[in-house]
Amino acid sequence: MDWGMENRLSKTIKPDGKCFYLALDHGYFHGPTAGLENPGKTAAPVLDYVDAVFVPRGSLRATFDPKMETPVILRVSGGNSLDREDITDEEVTVSMRDIIRLNAAAVGISVYIGSENEHKTIMALSKLVDDCLDYNIPVMAVTAVGREEDKKEARYLALACRILAEQGAHVVKTYYCDNFEKVVAGCPVPVVIAGGPRTENDLEVLEFVYNGMQAGAIGVNLGRNIWKNDSPIGMARALQAVIHENATPKEAYEIYQTIKNGK
Ligand code: 5RP
Repeated sequence: MDWGMENRLSKTIKPDGKCFYLALDHGYFHGPTAGLENPGKTAAPVLDYVDAVFVPRGSLRATFDPKMETPVILRVSGGNSLDREDITDEEVTVSMRDIIRLNAAAVGISVYIGSENEHKTIMALSKLVDDCLDYNIPVMAVTAVGREEDKKEARYLALACRILAEQGAHVVKTYYCDNFEKVVAGCPVPVVIAGGPRTENDLEVLEFVYNGMQAGAIGVNLGRNIWKNDSPIGMARALQAVIHENATPKEAYEIYQTIKNGK
């Protein structure tokens, strides 16, 4: 591996081989979703606990301090909005020049396997990987499901993860599901767990992250379950304990409650 690639990967995957990414990219198709009107402000209290932020270039430039030390995984795909039925129609929306200008440690792109736009989004990934390899920039590919929540199961996710890895993604982000170990086992590159809508209770987040990591994932890329929480710092610190300190969900939940209750 060339020095530049190894250097960038070391910024986003810590020496223990694990990672904790905070997703704040929702605006690229959700618009100003509640809690994320100003992503930089939302992120600020938890930056000390996460290993990288996943953001689009617009809110990065407008709302994040350029002096921050937290590495940036730049969301570089887009092209749809929640206002339309089909939200799978994405392309790469950022030039390589701008990726480099923004000093991205890595980039992220969604791929919609099994959708109308499967071919288009796979080709976008493979071209992005080729372009990023020229500059030693790692690519995180997301197994995006659009509105098809029922795709969050092992057979589909294993298929999607493997295809994204075969196209050259350095890391694949996918959803936790039953038989998650099969998804991880079939993916030749590291797997990061995606989030989704807020869970019914806070312990559930810690449990699925813990279980996903036991099944072989190297970390998480979570958004709403952190920044929509009543205590984003409590949840971020608890997740950090699960990811980097091998805490059990119960131990992490105690950390969460202590911080949330200001003890
Ligand atoms: C969607 C994404 C987003 O980054 C991710 O879903 C946002 O995080 P969360 O769902 O945990 O709020 O890649 O495909």
